[in-house]
Amino acid sequence: MAQFWKPGTEKPRLLDDEEGGVLFLSSSFSSSSSGYGYASIERQRQRLPVYKYRTSILYLVESHATSIVVGETGSGKTTQIPQYLKEAGWADGGRVIACTQPRRLAVQAVASRVAEEMGVKVGEEVGYTIRFEDISNPDATRIKFLTDGVLLREMMDDPLLTKYSVIMVDEAHERSISTDILLGLLKKIQKRRPQLRLLISSATIEAKAMSDFFQSSKRRQVSEGEELRPRLEPAILSVEGRGFNVQIHYVEDPVQDYVQAAVSTVLLIHDQEPAGDILVFLTGQDDIDVAVKMLTEEARSNGKNSSGLIILPLYSGLSRAEQDLVFSPTPKGKRKVVISTNIAETSLTLEGIVYVVDSGFSKQRFYNPISDIENLVVAPISKASARQRAGRAGRLRPGKCYRLYTEEYFVNEMSAQGIPEIQRSNLVSCVIQLKALGIDNILGFDWPASPSPESMIRALEVLYSLGVLDDDAKLTSPVGFQVAEIPLEPMISKMILASNELGCSEEIITIAAVLSIQSIWFSGRGVQKELDEAKLRFAAAEGDHVTFLNIYKGFLQSGKSSQWCHRNFINYHAMKKVMEIREQLKRIALRLGIVLKSCERDMQSVRKAVTAGFFANACRLEAFSHSGMYKTIRGSQEVYIHPSSVLFRVNPRWVIYHSLVSTDRQYMRNVISIDSSWLTEAAPHFYQQQQQQLNPIIH
Ligand code: CDP
Ligand code: MG
Repeated sequence: MAQFWKPGTEKPRLLDDEEGGVLFLSSSFSSSSSGYGYASIERQRQRLPVYKYRTSILYLVESHATSIVVGETGSGKTTQIPQYLKEAGWADGGRVIACTQPRRLAVQAVASRVAEEMGVKVGEEVGYTIRFEDISNPDATRIKFLTDGVLLREMMDDPLLTKYSVIMVDEAHERSISTDILLGLLKKIQKRRPQLRLLISSATIEAKAMSDFFQSSKRRQVSEGEELRPRLEPAILSVEGRGFNVQIHYVEDPVQDYVQAAVSTVLLIHDQEPAGDILVFLTGQDDIDVAVKMLTEEARSNGKNSSGLIILPLYSGLSRAEQDLVFSPTPKGKRKVVISTNIAETSLTLEGIVYVVDSGFSKQRFYNPISDIENLVVAPISKASARQRAGRAGRLRPGKCYRLYTEEYFVNEMSAQGIPEIQRSNLVSCVIQLKALGIDNILGFDWPASPSPESMIRALEVLYSLGVLDDDAKLTSPVGFQVAEIPLEPMISKMILASNELGCSEEIITIAAVLSIQSIWFSGRGVQKELDEAKLRFAAAEGDHVTFLNIYKGFLQSGKSSQWCHRNFINYHAMKKVMEIREQLKRIALRLGIVLKSCERDMQSVRKAVTAGFFANACRLEAFSHSGMYKTIRGSQEVYIHPSSVLFRVNPRWVIYHSLVSTDRQYMRNVISIDSSWLTEAAPHFYQQQQQQLNPIIH
């Protein structure tokens, strides 16, 4: 097996040189870091590379409106800097230090770590907020971790974010869509509130570009009597933390199946390499679950090769207990294998990793404004990501990274950087948020990276047809404001509003809650047959949305029993989450004046409400197609019903889907059958241009 591997010639360097920062410092990890487990928390904190920069960071924040901190993953940016700020008094007088993350799981994980370091309970002095989960206390919380999306939402109630003294925008290199919007808005806020400090932190940011973005802001005159006059040009501080070399190995020939290749590589490492944990980068829950199962089976059947392996998945949506396992120390004599999405690339630090296996892929969002289709696809990562992934191996001692692609591919084909998410996303949610914040000229907004005008126009068009924007592209009252108020994608929000008129808000809120989580089905492999049988017990002829209602009803009738879930291959934790989200949506609905009402057995109302929100996702079965091929009405794209849908092989003539996944084909997930006449009823403007296509087929 070993001959597949060829050592790479690239000398791994994780930090690109900074050009002309205000301050450039560097240091490396203390090499005596093997005794981590025994050091007191205080000692551990002092050993982190960022500790040496404590004074510099505090000085920069004091003296500059915006500071940029670039530093290796694991150097202590996320967990330490908010604590330094608090120790320096930035949370005095009831003020709050915010630290944003693009990922929910990272928010929870760092909040509990920081609370532990400070010896407090999460939710008190250290708290966190993610959508549908607020573990913070307005009176007590001084350091608050939150997703960038949640901070955007907070701006709706408090446009200048007055309770925050410092906002640390973390993981800025990820360039998530919410991070980019946030950066644009924070730049605006700073003009109105110069005392607000921004700290942008990231692992591999192009610091110069980010600095230029903030530099170009013209500051208003500081009013008289104002004492703090932070300097305007951003400061850049670079914390170099990596002390150990990572040997890179490439495959000699391209691999056919990266999951299989990853599994064999783990077994190879386990067989031939000394102790040390392994981190495998795959793309999402589906391929991670397959790899976990393959390795677990291997461990069971072939004791020699894989005994002593502890195999753990890591992706968002894991329960608390599953997360804790990933972070807990590896018992002596064992080897931990964590199989992760790119969440472990920079958002989370795992101790003890010595070997990294990099598939070269991640799940990425891509949007095509011409066809109006947004997809999550498995796509090649960038060189920057590949370097980050490799770097995870060299934290404690020299490590090895096994790339499941050739060196030639890395050098010649991988792009240098990823594309910011805002340039590859559907912008409907983004536009409505900016509108709700009073940003009317969206095309002229100061973006860190401009989205394409086509995507903008598409988004405006959809919002207009949803009745959210008027002819002047302003939010309509009350619908536009109500849709913006609900923390869900605008199409779901519109569906909830429509349910009020159709008298089925109880049902639609349940559906909205289920659609907000990844899946309510149990996701073990090798149980496909049982899972399909279980689905049949609940399957509704109308489609998946109505099936969810049957499941929810069954769950309630069982007394919310975990055994019932187990018997029916339903994920109990997911159902509990559905209940929680449902409660929150109920509160929001009441606030918006929606009357909670059940339509009992009238599923036509439910389907009409779904149509009112999701008319843009309507598809028609191709008349002479025996393969179950549908075409979208909007873009005439070929799509198929996903095998996990209860309508798979049923193929009703007209359907609406909730989302698309792309593998060998474009598959519709969560599908409901409709009557085509409801489309023109729900969205006359939207379907006007399509009349020609619609007319001949309405019978
Ligand atoms: O943000 P950055 O990647 O620079 O580092 P961090 O997340 O602040 O992590 C600093 C250190 O805290 C890591 O090297 C880990 O040793 C430790 N840590 C941990 O043990 N458990 C966590 N859940 C988070 C961090
Ligand atoms: Mg971090």
